[in-house]
Amino acid sequence: MQLETASILEHRDYGSGYRLLRLAAPQIAPQVQPGQFVHLRVPRLEASVLRRPFSIFRAENGVVTLLYKAVGHGTSVLSAATSGEPVSLIGPLGNGFPLDLPAGRVPVLVAGGYGMAALYLVARRLAVPGLVFVGGRSAPDILCVEDFEALGWQVHVATEDGSRGVRGWVTVPLDAWLAEGRAGRTPEFYACGPNSMLEVIGQRALAHDWRAWLSVDRHMGCGVGACLTCVVKLKDADGTWLWARSCKEGPVFESRQIHWDRAEEEA
Ligand SMILES: Cc1cc2nc3c(=O)[nH]c(=O)nc-3n(C[C@H](O)[C@H](O)[C@H](O)COP(=O)(O)OP(=O)(O)OC[C@H]3O[C@@H](n4cnc5c(N)ncnc54)[C@H](O)[C@@H]3O)c2cc1C
Ligand code: FES
Repeated sequence: MQLETASILEHRDYGSGYRLLRLAAPQIAPQVQPGQFVHLRVPRLEASVLRRPFSIFRAENGVVTLLYKAVGHGTSVLSAATSGEPVSLIGPLGNGFPLDLPAGRVPVLVAGGYGMAALYLVARRLAVPGLVFVGGRSAPDILCVEDFEALGWQVHVATEDGSRGVRGWVTVPLDAWLAEGRAGRTPEFYACGPNSMLEVIGQRALAHDWRAWLSVDRHMGCGVGACLTCVVKLKDADGTWLWARSCKEGPVFESRQIHWDRAEEEA
């Protein structure tokens, strides 16, 4: 983990309401593991002491790239930042996705919203290509398909209005593949998206005793394990439960660990 003043190299529209932000961050970039995030202090937002967490989309050659959507005050102010401007980052933070894919398993990524950005480095760093299932409300919500296809991954798209891919939730093409395309192979899930989607993927995995690595999204204060804003309720091995900090022990947890009733209440 590093505190680094990065410099904006590029900041532009990426489509689908997202902005792409490339930052020169030579200390943080080489340390990044898939699924980790940076905690960013929004420039020109002096009134706010809180940083904002963003998944690391790409990290190469001393450059960290983020993909984000302006959803509130902080991200709206961030969207006006310009090339050359300094941006304070803490990162890389959190425990990302494990890359020790057991032999014979098929990696299956499942994404909603910015989940495609959070999962890109998984696809990049896993030794074998697999499948990506991505869902959204309509065509403009579907991000990064070409980035995954360029890595040789097979991408399946679902939109609620049917404007791209199959109509319905991401579980429509996923369930079709699990029923007919899997050909007896065991999937290993890696997912990032809304809690409702993560819970469904966790249920699919639990029903067959498969593993599902889920990146949860919690509001964060400090980002470094000190404030307890981001806690998630986990099941202990003996059936009791405990709190874990998603910024420190997460944001990625295996689905068997997560106590979903509580996660749902907090979503
Ligand atoms: C580990 C992690 C990784 C993330 N990665 C990305 C990413 O790669 N790209 C991206 O676009 N966003 C990402 N987010 C979400 C991003 O941090 C929030 O959108 C951002 O903090 C909102 O800041 P704001 O000041 O604009 O919004 P605020 O004014 O604080 O809030 C505006 C709206 O956004 C909601 N909101 C605020 N924080 C979050 C949050 N953490 N999750 C969900 N809703 C929130 C609020 O409830 C409110 O409705 C990530 C969040 C986490 C926890
Ligand atoms: S955000 Fe402070 S403990 Fe996780």
